[in-house]
Amino acid sequence: MSPTIPPKTIQWVGGLNGHVLMIDQTRLPTELVMIECRDAETMWEAIKHLRIRGAPAIGIAAAMGAVLGIRDYGGSDRRGFLKRLDEICDHLGTSRPTGVNLFWALDRMRKHARSTETADIGALKIALLDEARRIRDEDAAMCRAIGKHGEALIRPDCGVLTHCNAGGLATAEYGTALAPLYTAHDRGRRFRVYVGETRPLLQGSRLTAWELQQAGIEVQVLCDSMVGALMKQGRVDLAITGADRIAASGDVANKVGTYSLAVLAQVHEVPFYVAAPSSTFDPLIPDGSGIPIEERDPDEIRCGFGRLTAPPDVPCYCPAFDVTPARLIRGIITERGLIQPVDSERITETLRD
Ligand code: MRU
Repeated sequence: MSPTIPPKTIQWVGGLNGHVLMIDQTRLPTELVMIECRDAETMWEAIKHLRIRGAPAIGIAAAMGAVLGIRDYGGSDRRGFLKRLDEICDHLGTSRPTGVNLFWALDRMRKHARSTETADIGALKIALLDEARRIRDEDAAMCRAIGKHGEALIRPDCGVLTHCNAGGLATAEYGTALAPLYTAHDRGRRFRVYVGETRPLLQGSRLTAWELQQAGIEVQVLCDSMVGALMKQGRVDLAITGADRIAASGDVANKVGTYSLAVLAQVHEVPFYVAAPSSTFDPLIPDGSGIPIEERDPDEIRCGFGRLTAPPDVPCYCPAFDVTPARLIRGIITERGLIQPVDSERITETLRD
């Protein structure tokens, strides 16, 4: 069987004067359109409006966005350069609040500039481009490792439920929650995947179903409200999702609906796993109550399909993410191995350098 070639979600094309090329995820599944991004403001808009989305992919986009912003710096002094870089990173950091990979990547860019000991501004710019590319390549490698650590969970002929999109589109390539599926598939195993639509923006039906079909993996879409019925029929052997931020306690913020899925999984004795790279852990936040949750435009609920599906002025509750407590999570699959049981000691141990 030929190995799965996932779509190239985001890449830097050319040298310092090049551009970022990425899939416009708002256009899928009807059109596969690539967009070119040549300045930091366009990148901010792309992140804000989910043209690029998924915590690791957002981190890569932000790092590349920082390069797009700083490459036009015309001054010759290092202090001015670092100050301008901070301004650009601060601005990119306002695009979305929940996924910690965004801040992790921007922090890495700032630190890399400070630790690159040169007064040559051109060399600093190149060093930042190299770092952004490294962030992308490391993410791809982490996803492959997550696939290897998680593939044994995917038993022959099992039913796997996922939510939102934590696949190649949400990362450099290959994905987090979908990585064990791709690896098992590449090893010739057959299984079924169920994915909830993921209202309001339908990342499950638009993106995950598209991605899995491209890879030749059997997938069935259901409305989010059907998950309980599916589990009750005994069709789900395992649930896996990605994560946007994992607190020190192991509480996980992920796409809204993940918490309901985890509660249902517990009631039906379905093991619920999370897959995430170390860049998604936030050791500075003790537990899930401290994770900032993005609120989105109510119109995404009221007229998400280009037509009103609710009274135009009806108030809506529209968090983009929810938090699943660690006690509902059987294990977290990372590039360094499986964290099980999920508690702060095991997390600290696994993430220690
Ligand atoms: O709003 P989105 O589409 O960016 O939300 C994405 C998710 O919640 C993913 O599950 C998460 O970022 C993990 S992606 C590997």
